[in-house]
Amino acid sequence: MIVTSEQASVRLTSFSSCAGCAAKIGQQALAEVLKGLPISDDPNLLVGSGTGDDAGVYRLDEDRALVQTLDFFTPIVDDPYDFGRIAATNALSDVYAMGGRPMTAMNIVGMPATKLPPDVIRQVLRGGADVARSAGCCLVGGHSIRSPEPIYGLSVTGIVHPDHVIANTGAQPGDVLLLTKPLGTGITTTAIKRELAPPTLVEAAIGSMCMLNTPGTELADQQLVAAGTDVTGFGLLGHLANICRGSNVSARLDASAVPTLGEAVLTLIEQDCVPGGTKTNLQTANGHTDWGNTPDALRVLLTDAQTSGPLLLCVRPDRLDEVNALLARHDTLSRVVIGEIATQGDALIHVR
Ligand code: CO
Ligand code: CO
Repeated sequence: MIVTSEQASVRLTSFSSCAGCAAKIGQQALAEVLKGLPISDDPNLLVGSGTGDDAGVYRLDEDRALVQTLDFFTPIVDDPYDFGRIAATNALSDVYAMGGRPMTAMNIVGMPATKLPPDVIRQVLRGGADVARSAGCCLVGGHSIRSPEPIYGLSVTGIVHPDHVIANTGAQPGDVLLLTKPLGTGITTTAIKRELAPPTLVEAAIGSMCMLNTPGTELADQQLVAAGTDVTGFGLLGHLANICRGSNVSARLDASAVPTLGEAVLTLIEQDCVPGGTKTNLQTANGHTDWGNTPDALRVLLTDAQTSGPLLLCVRPDRLDEVNALLARHDTLSRVVIGEIATQGDALIHVR
């Protein structure tokens, strides 16, 4: 690839070896890797790696716990500023998903510095910095290495009241499942890489991926949700399965209620424009899902690997109005009931 200082000639996604799915290691493969590694028995570790949650939570004192997380990936869009914004929004999301308030962040940067002009790399960092600022999160430094593929993300530290953490473990039968953004970013970013994505869909996906999951902090402050997570690389069903396992419950999903970024998402699925990570997620989901007669395209949508995806919230029915009002104040892209939590059954998740 020839690089000029004109940013328009740089297709950032052409550096990525993996399209769409942010190259995440699959859920089962990761479990295999982590098997037998020591788990901390520190009593102040409130949420560790055992329940597949979004971030680690560590108690400082009676009123405060640290929320710690990091996330980074290779380009999923071509515009460097958008790539930076999306990566930062995605990294911050895991703090919000735990009910935390982001306090500080550090840049994680790997760049093919001889192949990308400095102004392109600067735009990536500017995108991240702008998002951190809008989240009220102080960017305090970072670390960079040379790497063949561009890599960008943040490590983020937040704070939460130790009793208000939104974890995977609190769901109860009868809880309503709410989703705060539409699905389909994995499909869309794969289509971007293959130059198949309609511009309106690209715009919708970038808008969605740049929307901070800020309601998480307030939902925790007001103790309005029983359990929750954000939907990212393992897809809706993978992250819902983590809640079901963590809470010893099952879930019932109404596939037709799940919002998409646009009609084009299902068309792209029918053209097999599906990232590898999504295909892996679907295989994993087949092991714990009763699909009924759900159409194939919807099965793909429900397992699509998301980047900077929605909050998935488990809400007691008597708090639903308050939660909806809060989400409306934050102008979330969706606030749709997509199913409910049920008592533990033969399948982890039933889709209808
Ligand atoms: Co997460
Ligand atoms: Co994450």
